[in-house]
Amino acid sequence: MELEKDRLFVGRDNTAPAIEIARASGSTFWNSMGKKFIDFTGGWCVQNVGYNDPHIMQELGSFNGPNYALPYYYFDKWVELAELLAEISPGNLEKSFRVPSGSEAVEVALQAAMAATGRNRFVSVEGAYHGHTMGALSVGDSAFKKMFPKNTLLETSKIGLPLSEKAAKEAEKLLKTEKFAAFIAEPIIMNLGVEIPSKEFWEIVSDACRDTGTLLIADEVASGFGRTGKMFASEHYNLKPDVMAMAKGMSSGYGPIGAAIMTPKIGKIVEEKLWTYSTFGWTPYNTVAAIANTRHILENRLAERAAGMEKVFAKEIENTPFKEKPETRIKGLAIGLRFRTPEYRRRVVSKALENGLALSTSDDRTLVMFPALDISENEIAEGFEALRKSA
Ligand SMILES: Cc1ncc(COP(=O)(O)O)c(C=O)c1O
Repeated sequence: MELEKDRLFVGRDNTAPAIEIARASGSTFWNSMGKKFIDFTGGWCVQNVGYNDPHIMQELGSFNGPNYALPYYYFDKWVELAELLAEISPGNLEKSFRVPSGSEAVEVALQAAMAATGRNRFVSVEGAYHGHTMGALSVGDSAFKKMFPKNTLLETSKIGLPLSEKAAKEAEKLLKTEKFAAFIAEPIIMNLGVEIPSKEFWEIVSDACRDTGTLLIADEVASGFGRTGKMFASEHYNLKPDVMAMAKGMSSGYGPIGAAIMTPKIGKIVEEKLWTYSTFGWTPYNTVAAIANTRHILENRLAERAAGMEKVFAKEIENTPFKEKPETRIKGLAIGLRFRTPEYRRRVVSKALENGLALSTSDDRTLVMFPALDISENEIAEGFEALRKSA
């Protein structure tokens, strides 16, 4: 590992790479020294299908389409993917705008809400993460605004955790002013250590959106494509978003791609009023990767598998002798363990890595597991063996 050169040449917001991936398959990877790791990070909600899946790799290996297609042209795989997304998305979402990432999907969603409502304010959840564009930072954690105090969207309001009836009433009060273009949130919040809102929360907020002409934007960039045991987390609450942002699990990392999908009515307004051209929006190869990955998730019923695996992980977690017993949040294969102290969380994550298990983190007290939805039972057993040694 050339860590010194990494520090010199690679821009990043962590200090040094703790993990090197030289070779990978399924939910297992090896470093260049041949040490084996079980991966419970799933690329932080990207790898809903694990590393180098043979079916997807074979399809991509036989790709012989054009390397690029000008976004203004016709390309049949765009139609195929957009139609597929319309079929699997909740409610009346039909028109997909082509973007290369989650941040840009959120950006288009925010702009669509402004164009469709003529309003410029947003309500979101305090501490959230929706990406790194100016718009996405504005509806994320208030701390992001400190980076650019005068330049982010100024008119944003945040509601605090927990996402219960009380928080929903706060949101409702804001929305009743009829000044807000949209309420935006992850339906189940991966970025807050798998925060699971109550049913009442989403009932009150979605009714308030409907009654006040406010759009509901579901950010499913991290929670989509089977992660929570449904194709989209919105389905757990019967939500019918006006706009939905997706990326990450849309290709499971087989290519960078995202979409802002919206109702036909809002789609038409965006087409008439906005500029949504994206040079690398849906390049041909990435489009084919997204189709292959999405069909693979559907055909192998990986969302249902994630729902079934919830019990397996819950039991393994229960049987892990943590010195600080965590608060466990789990929906499908979205798992958050919140410990009492940051020191203990840090210790568990670094010991686990030494013992051959890769874990991710959310805040300083919370570790998260987002394993691939096709993780094998052997990999789960090996992973928890390493975790028990690290608890
Ligand atoms: C919920 C959510 N929205 C948006 C984004 C931004 O996606 P990207 O990193 O692809 O720009 C992320 C990334 O972590 C995310 O978790």
